[in-house]
Amino acid sequence: MLESSDTGPSNSRPIRLMVVVGSVRPGRAGLSVALWVHEHTTQVGGFDIDFVDLAELNLPFMNEPKHPKFQEYRYRHTIAWAERVAAADGFLFVTPEYNYSYSPALKNALDYLHYEWAGKPVGLVSYGGLAGGTRGVAALQPVLSALKMSGVGSNVEIPYVSRQIDDGFFQPSERQVEKLTRMLGRISASTQGTPSGVLVEV
Ligand SMILES: Cc1cc2nc3c(=O)[nH]c(=O)nc-3n(C[C@H](O)[C@H](O)[C@H](O)COP(=O)(O)O)c2cc1C
Repeated sequence: MLESSDTGPSNSRPIRLMVVVGSVRPGRAGLSVALWVHEHTTQVGGFDIDFVDLAELNLPFMNEPKHPKFQEYRYRHTIAWAERVAAADGFLFVTPEYNYSYSPALKNALDYLHYEWAGKPVGLVSYGGLAGGTRGVAALQPVLSALKMSGVGSNVEIPYVSRQIDDGFFQPSERQVEKLTRMLGRISASTQGTPSGVLVEV
């Protein structure tokens, strides 16, 4: 069952949502999944999407001399990344499970910055084999906590992701669509300061 604030955004101005494709390897499933996320979010409406493919962003391994809390960035790639993340109201990370953890490219992108992430809502779409990426999500939680990001719940989990990809297109189940819709509603509610704890899980 969905409650009204669970079904999508109602803000007057679009919410700037950054969708991050967490995997970067050739032939990755992540791009197909993230393109579905993008398409569905566009259909729901109310979001201004910044689609970040970490393979294209191509950040080096974190190479800033100072801790990101100082925000004294030396490199142009960091300044550009910081501006882009600072402009977002919320995030949706699409991440695989690798060896019971999440994507190292996502970790690298997260580690570059600190305050730019802080206090903002984040939704997670995870995938992998049997566990649907849930162990990767468990490994990601302490990092989100260190960055003071607020998870919105209703994570979308995709077991055996390759079985749902046909000719490069991800074919979601009804439940996955429902959970993504609910997650978008929660991100929307969070950006309006509405507590998401009142929302109903199914
Ligand atoms: C290095 C590596 C480690 C993996 N480890 C796990 C794992 O621990 N658990 C799991 O469910 N799937 C695991 N898988 C399967 C991946 O989740 C699956 O191949 C997925 O498609 C990877 O995402 P990507 O295609 O976007 O890179 C692993 C895959 C790779 C390449």
